[in-house]
Amino acid sequence: MKLISIAAMAITVLSMTHFQILADNPQKPFLTNADLITKTCSSTPYNDLCLSILESSPNSNGTDLYGLTEIMLYIAAENVSLIHEHLMELQNNTEMDTFMDECLTDCLENYQDATDQIEDSITALEFKAYHDIKTWVAAAMNDGAVCENGFKEKPDHKSPIVEMSKVFDQICSIILAMTNILSQGNRNMNSEDIFNF
Ligand SMILES: *[C@@H]1O[C@H](CO)[C@@H](O)[C@H](O)[C@H]1NC(C)=O
Ligand SMILES: *[C@@H]1O[C@H](CO)[C@@H](O)[C@H](O)[C@H]1NC(C)=O
Ligand SMILES: *[C@@H]1O[C@H](CO)[C@@H](O)[C@H](O)[C@H]1NC(C)=O
Repeated sequence: MKLISIAAMAITVLSMTHFQILADNPQKPFLTNADLITKTCSSTPYNDLCLSILESSPNSNGTDLYGLTEIMLYIAAENVSLIHEHLMELQNNTEMDTFMDECLTDCLENYQDATDQIEDSITALEFKAYHDIKTWVAAAMNDGAVCENGFKEKPDHKSPIVEMSKVFDQICSIILAMTNILSQGNRNMNSEDIFNF
């Protein structure tokens, strides 16, 4: 009996001390959101791009890894629809030769598929269907690669969207890395535990 109450007292004192530390230094005891972003991005293949996207998003403040992945998927959706739009503008250019025109037509199809796959991935995230996200994001990356390869089939022709495709591909790689971490854990973890299994 006595032992139990001593233990209880010890716990009470310990937690009071803990709150005192918290009050004195609100940042220290827990992993802050900035730390979560830093750790998450350093676990992806494109740390700088990841940081620049998440640090400039107003929605990343205070969210967990699930929320950060959602932000990244919305950025990918925006990106892929801008690429699609740009391809339509390019195709409107009447001075295009037949080969280029055909490439652009194929690319429009590829990027329409990619758009659908990213949208499906956003839905899959709501259901925590991480395996589906991995499948669809990988498919979207493949669509981008197929489009790029089309331009290489004839000499003296260059992809007019090579830079855009590259960024989209990198964003997809970041999403795959984030989804991998998510699929190993629980969506509510936003402490250092996330990176410790
Ligand atoms: C994040 O949100 C907290 C309150 O929840 C606020 O004090 C802080 O200034 C915000 N930081 C940024 C960078 O917006
Ligand atoms: C894709 O997103 C990145 C990061 O937000 C941005 O720098 C880039 O301009 C976007 N690309 C297009 C085509 O919008
Ligand atoms: C294509 O050109 C037509 C006629 O010049 C114009 O009305 C249309 O808005 C253009 N579409 C795009 C996607 O630029």
